[in-house]
Amino acid sequence: MLLTDIFEEELRSPTVFRDESKLSAAYVPSSLPHRASELRELIRLFLGVMKNPGEMSQRVTISGSIGIGKTALSKCFGKVLEEYAHTHNMNLHYVHVNCRRKKSRFLILREVVHHFNPNVPHRGYSPEELLHMLDHLLESQNIFLVVALDELDFLLRRNDASLLYDLIRWTDEQLNGVQRVSLILIVRDRVYLKELDAGTLSSLQNNHIYLAPYSASQLGDILQERAKESLFDFSINSDVIYLIGDIASERGDARFALELLWRAGKYADRDKVTSILPEYVRLAKADIHPDLRKDIFQELSLHHQLVLLAIIRQLKKHRAAYTTTGNVEVTYNVICEEYLESPRKHTQLWEYVKDLEQLCLITTKISGKGIRGKTTMIGLPDAPLSLLEKELHNSLKECEK
Ligand SMILES: Nc1ncnc2c1ncn2[C@@H]1O[C@H](COP(=O)(O)OP(=O)(O)OP(=O)(O)O)[C@@H](O)[C@H]1O
Ligand SMILES: [Mg+2]
Repeated sequence: MLLTDIFEEELRSPTVFRDESKLSAAYVPSSLPHRASELRELIRLFLGVMKNPGEMSQRVTISGSIGIGKTALSKCFGKVLEEYAHTHNMNLHYVHVNCRRKKSRFLILREVVHHFNPNVPHRGYSPEELLHMLDHLLESQNIFLVVALDELDFLLRRNDASLLYDLIRWTDEQLNGVQRVSLILIVRDRVYLKELDAGTLSSLQNNHIYLAPYSASQLGDILQERAKESLFDFSINSDVIYLIGDIASERGDARFALELLWRAGKYADRDKVTSILPEYVRLAKADIHPDLRKDIFQELSLHHQLVLLAIIRQLKKHRAAYTTTGNVEVTYNVICEEYLESPRKHTQLWEYVKDLEQLCLITTKISGKGIRGKTTMIGLPDAPLSLLEKELHNSLKECEK
């Protein structure tokens, strides 16, 4: 059989997916079941900004654990806000920035400026200059801006609150003039916000929306809605949907629930059947660990992945709970040879380790007794090594393509 024939055959084989992309993490659904009251709360908090443009701005924090709709809620709100502003002739823009991907004050501010001016250079400006540029843009075009700083914990965990200080100082400077900039701060855990200095904390105005984990039936409703958009009719029945809801309800995590649904669908496609059977859900569950989100690997650079692989190999080889940075470095150098990559320097390696820790893919601690001197010990959370290694190999294969 010719290879192109295999392609044709696969394309013709039945699939349960009407549109797989509707299950991806990047897709923002048009409605958010069970978040209506939180959406309304956000709208209420912004009423003043919309009623009397320029007279006030707003600062709101959204918090809640992994996969419970913080990003989706904020983006949905942004859409509603822009639509309302548009019909009321208000030039308002919602800009959503992910602080995990844009890791520095400069990159985040550049992203905001980039929204208005796609030609802004990649370097050559200081954060202050970018703020100045933004100021000028907003003034000259009479723009009102809502900036959502998503996954802000990642900056705060690095003890880098400078961006927040900048933005707050900048918006405070507008207090006597036209107030153009509002902030939505999104964090998983509010403890990092509590560590900010008193002035910054009080300026956050205590407008806070907490998203509680979803129950099994709420997850079922969410899946039901998403299944309508992403799957063909009759390819899943509601018992199976609520089975997924049950499994994911342990953590109340909608992302986990959606990934289970997607993987179960993939199993149905593999077997060329037209409906998602409970057995496929069980297989999908055995396949994923709630801490290993599939999008995490896609976001890691090649060398982050090679370092992670080195850690896994070390832990497997020694059947140990922890390994040292020294050991990891030796294995990393070997892996780089395998992948024909030139290894990065020690300091860069250290940065990668810190990044992986921030993503909760590894844990670190300072060595205790039994090891001479102080060294950093690296371990993995409770995700099984073999699963992690499998995901990583898949992702590295993608990188090689
Ligand atoms: N109420 C809901 N209705 C429909 N889809 C939802 C709902 N809540 C969450 N989702 C979906 O679940 C997935 C995870 O949601 P989201 O990315 O907003 O989580 P998060 O709280 O930002 O998680 P993280 O802390 O990991 O960033 C997304 O695909 C989102 O569209
Ligand atoms: Mg999020």
